[in-house]
Amino acid sequence: MEKCMTRYALITGASSGIGLAMAEALARRGRSLILVARQRDQLESIAIELTQRFGVEVLFRACDLGEPLRLSGFLLELEEGDRQIDLLVNCAGIGTCGPFLAQDWMTEQDLIEVNILALTRLCHAIGNSMALQGGGQILNVASVAAFHPGPWMSTYYASKAYVLHFSEGLRVELKKCAVKVSVLCPGPTRTAFFRTAQLDTAKLVDSKMLMSPEEVALYTVRALEKNRAIIIPGRRNRWRAFLPRLGSRWLTRTIAGMVNKAYCPR
Ligand SMILES: NC(=O)c1ccc[n+]([C@@H]2O[C@H](COP(=O)([O-])OP(=O)(O)OC[C@H]3O[C@@H](n4cnc5c(N)ncnc54)[C@H](OP(=O)(O)O)[C@@H]3O)[C@@H](O)[C@H]2O)c1
Repeated sequence: MEKCMTRYALITGASSGIGLAMAEALARRGRSLILVARQRDQLESIAIELTQRFGVEVLFRACDLGEPLRLSGFLLELEEGDRQIDLLVNCAGIGTCGPFLAQDWMTEQDLIEVNILALTRLCHAIGNSMALQGGGQILNVASVAAFHPGPWMSTYYASKAYVLHFSEGLRVELKKCAVKVSVLCPGPTRTAFFRTAQLDTAKLVDSKMLMSPEEVALYTVRALEKNRAIIIPGRRNRWRAFLPRLGSRWLTRTIAGMVNKAYCPR
């Protein structure tokens, strides 16, 4: 008799914010999970809690995705283990804000390593396994920032434009191997993101513009079930993604620069 193999959803950035809310929403639907982020203790307590609440298997792996060698080690472990991953959620991401030339280079490099390189490499490695196993689903987390340039957060906005375009391209390429690819473009969401990006959170914390990560995750899992290509939770955010198409690029980057500058403390 053929062994019934558990299939897992692997979520990066699962220790907080949108990644954590995705983990909870998927566990609620009975999915077994592999959680990835740097904070081991945090992952461990999330794994215990989700297992207790939803009776699903939750594995976790602490890994700094900004360290290519550590990511190689993790990918090797996945390859050697016999765990099938049929959903990859690339949610780990960081932001920086302020004048590009004044940024610490290592922080900018970290952003590119995590937001672009690690995400792309995970799609390559796990996308290949999915193709071999006859299908799967990938969700990459971009942002509404992906739809236009963002002065004073230039690398962050550009990294998310990469994620959007890369994911749309992959969606077409991987269709023939039954791997579905979607991209999530959230707008401002109440998470630790603003603090780590060193944005002026005092102006944002009470803002009605913020969605909760749980709202974002619920909208996203429903959209994933419908295999939506580009997932934008919230009507306001869908407008924000659409409006740059109407105006000139000059106008769009000028307005985005004014808004971002207001939120950057430097
Ligand atoms: N919040 C927003 O307004 C917003 C809007 C649009 C898009 N997004 C995107 O949504 C995604 C999730 O962000 P969030 O808002 O949920 O922020 P968050 O609460 O700060 O979550 C970021 C996650 O990424 C993980 N992470 C960061 N650096 C990592 C590294 N080097 N290696 C492994 N994991 C790393 C963090 O875990 P550890 O610290 O444990 O490593 C954490 O789990 C990001 O891609 C972000 O760009 C956020």
